[in-house]
Amino acid sequence: MSTVFRLDSSIRGEGSVTRAVADTLESALVADLDGAAVLRREIGLTPLDAAAWGLSAFAGYVPEDQRSPEQVKAMALATELADELVAAEAYVFAVPFYNFGVSQHVKAWVDLLMTEPRFAPGTQSIAGRPAFLVIARGGGYGAGTPREGWDHATAWLTRVFSDIWGLDLQIIESELTLADVNPAMAELRELAATNLEEAHNAAHKHGKRLAVVLSAA
Ligand SMILES: Cc1cc2nc3c(=O)[nH]c(=O)nc-3n(C[C@H](O)[C@H](O)[C@H](O)COP(=O)(O)O)c2cc1C
Repeated sequence: MSTVFRLDSSIRGEGSVTRAVADTLESALVADLDGAAVLRREIGLTPLDAAAWGLSAFAGYVPEDQRSPEQVKAMALATELADELVAAEAYVFAVPFYNFGVSQHVKAWVDLLMTEPRFAPGTQSIAGRPAFLVIARGGGYGAGTPREGWDHATAWLTRVFSDIWGLDLQIIESELTLADVNPAMAELRELAATNLEEAHNAAHKHGKRLAVVLSAA
């Protein structure tokens, strides 16, 4: 039985592009894999306690018998998050682009994990395992666009997943997802639809490939 970890972090349930594209990848994977367990962590609709990171960061320097109940709880949450990642053979991280970066919910999850000895920078607990970052941006940030260089999420997420945790990362991107609801973007609707279709196609392809890789393992 293969275990795949899936992170969802959109602050909306209905209409979320990252959830829909991650669903496509998951469906393709599960259809082709004999016995797959998907281990889910939802941090968009049910965020982690924002105070947990600060508590856990310093709790490690406090002798075990002197830790406060809040510190013990925060460390236990960090351990739980780390256990989830270690238990999986592959990863799907669905992360929306908010305010030119990632949400505090995603940052809190990463920060808390990095307080855990298995996920501190320099550790390689899950290195080499396949991972997919499914990211959706409302606008366009490609080369030559007015906001080229304003995407401060993708590079940071790549740094964490690929360079720090050593995952074998593929990125599945959707752009212009606000074109349908923003009248100022009306002329970009066709391009947005193509872009979304390509993201679903890529997710489907990656799901099928991952099934082959996990079946052979
Ligand atoms: C609070 C909020 C802030 C956002 N900030 C940005 C932004 O800075 N740039 C951008 O291109 N899109 C922005 N968006 C649009 C999202 O990136 C877009 O809706 C994306 O599809 C969200 O992922 P989801 O569809 O999975 O919810 C924002 C959306 C929300 C709700």
